[in-house]
Amino acid sequence: MRIAVAGGTGTVGRYVVDTARARGHGVAVLSRSRGVDVRTGSGLEAALEGVEAVVDVTNPGTTEREAATAFFTEVSGRLHTVGAACGVRHLVTLSIVGIDRAAGYGYYAAKLAQERAVLAGPVPATVLRATQFHEFAGQVLAWGRQRSTAHVPSLRVQTVAARTVGRVLVELVEAGPAGTVPDLAGPEPADLVALARALAERRGLGVAVVADPAPAEIPEDALLPGAGARLEGPTFRAWLAGPDALPTT
Ligand SMILES: NC(=O)c1ccc[n+]([C@@H]2O[C@H](COP(=O)([O-])OP(=O)(O)OC[C@H]3O[C@@H](n4cnc5c(N)ncnc54)[C@H](OP(=O)(O)O)[C@@H]3O)[C@@H](O)[C@H]2O)c1
Repeated sequence: MRIAVAGGTGTVGRYVVDTARARGHGVAVLSRSRGVDVRTGSGLEAALEGVEAVVDVTNPGTTEREAATAFFTEVSGRLHTVGAACGVRHLVTLSIVGIDRAAGYGYYAAKLAQERAVLAGPVPATVLRATQFHEFAGQVLAWGRQRSTAHVPSLRVQTVAARTVGRVLVELVEAGPAGTVPDLAGPEPADLVALARALAERRGLGVAVVADPAPAEIPEDALLPGAGARLEGPTFRAWLAGPDALPTT
């Protein structure tokens, strides 16, 4: 089938695109760098021609509550209205495990608003919550970098490879609309600071990783998967040894 990937150039989006192509699907990549803005709708109608399903893995580039909420609700609304008009039959959106347990954190409040907007229709939808990616260790290193140090919050996480999340999203596209599906997580819990240190060493970044307190709005263990979650490898250690742990650009 023809699948559009909104955010198809991003951390997880590139793996959605790769997996969909490898499984024989036609793919349209929707991102501003490819001339499509899914928030404003610029270029969207033409890009959705012949598309049966849309995977939404966009990200606003801010964790601030109001700005992120506006982004996610506008993107979801746009994909629904333009998607329905173009004959799209399934919208698959990626969310985050535990956001309802940490809704005081602005970005997670925004993700909850996104989930509500996605499930409100009119296009039949699937929402997958995943834990932080193994690649998240690199994202927090970049956010917390100050010269030769990087500040990383002391959070318990159970990270999963973005490549794995991309594959599961394509499986969900193929399975058809299912509403909210079981959570997806990696194989084992870990301390985000330890993961960031290991990744900084692997990439030879030469930064000292400083452990900061976790944000007060995120209770301890809030981000870990509950019973019934789908656990998928590789482990962080195996991922770290492979090529996906090194930046491509
Ligand atoms: N990172 C994690 O650990 C994690 C864990 C679980 C769930 N998630 C969720 O997964 C999703 C993707 O996260 P990510 O880390 O892969 O994001 P990312 O690497 O920041 O990539 C974001 C993508 O969105 C695109 N984008 C942004 N604004 C756009 C717009 N107006 N129109 C079209 N495309 C736009 C970007 O391309 P352009 O800049 O070219 O537009 C890029 O392809 C998010 O919803 C996040 O909440 C992330």
